[in-house]
Amino acid sequence: MNALQPPTQADIDREIAEHEGSRPGAAHPARDYAPYRSSVLRHPRQRLVVVEDPEAVELTGPAFGVTDVTALDNDLTRRHQGEPLGERITVTGRVLDRSGRPVTGQLVEIWQANASGRYAHQRDDHPAPLDPNFTGVGRCLTDAEGRYSFTTIKPGAYPWRNHTNAWRPAHIHFSLFGQAFTQRLVTQMYFPGDPLFPYDPILQSVTERPARERLVAEYAHDLSVPEWSLGYRWDIVLDGPAATWMEEGR
Ligand SMILES: [Fe+2]
Repeated sequence: MNALQPPTQADIDREIAEHEGSRPGAAHPARDYAPYRSSVLRHPRQRLVVVEDPEAVELTGPAFGVTDVTALDNDLTRRHQGEPLGERITVTGRVLDRSGRPVTGQLVEIWQANASGRYAHQRDDHPAPLDPNFTGVGRCLTDAEGRYSFTTIKPGAYPWRNHTNAWRPAHIHFSLFGQAFTQRLVTQMYFPGDPLFPYDPILQSVTERPARERLVAEYAHDLSVPEWSLGYRWDIVLDGPAATWMEEGR
């Protein structure tokens, strides 16, 4: 690979193939997964710092009160005067522990691009239109069965500068807050059948196919509402052999 030229898809394909199954039994990708170029520069190189007083971190870190979360916060289509453009969807599922028990009262936050693949963020300046009726953030608390639910629009694919002609498959970012900020987990949910999966080094950084598949929601016709929206179901397992892969080192 020429350091002066952006790598091509062929370069990235070759690197992905070299890494496929490179950490057998490990659902978590290497922190310096080379095809995802910025991970090589950004991954932690020092030993983790042991926090002497974890409670002090919790006292000064971000917190939330359950009363702050309103019933409208999980509907990303009703934040502005008009309706956002795009395909209206509901995304729902359960947050479960390794034994399959529901994790209740959990703060689930999401953020995503609009239907054109553009984030409402100053650092996203690629030439796709912003939607004045879509900001792309939402949150809710899991119920007694560990269930979360969002109404939103299906995000578009978007380009990034990892390599020449690099596009992210449509995805929704998820955060699970835990009991304190130090427990926060972050991951991404994908949509079934996306043709960009093989070309995406972030998804492919999870080198085991079953672990990758656990990041893909299923289309759920029973969740589709006639004349209104399409339904997707995606469960999140926090740990154990069926765990949903979470991003590290944030
Ligand atoms: Fe994204």
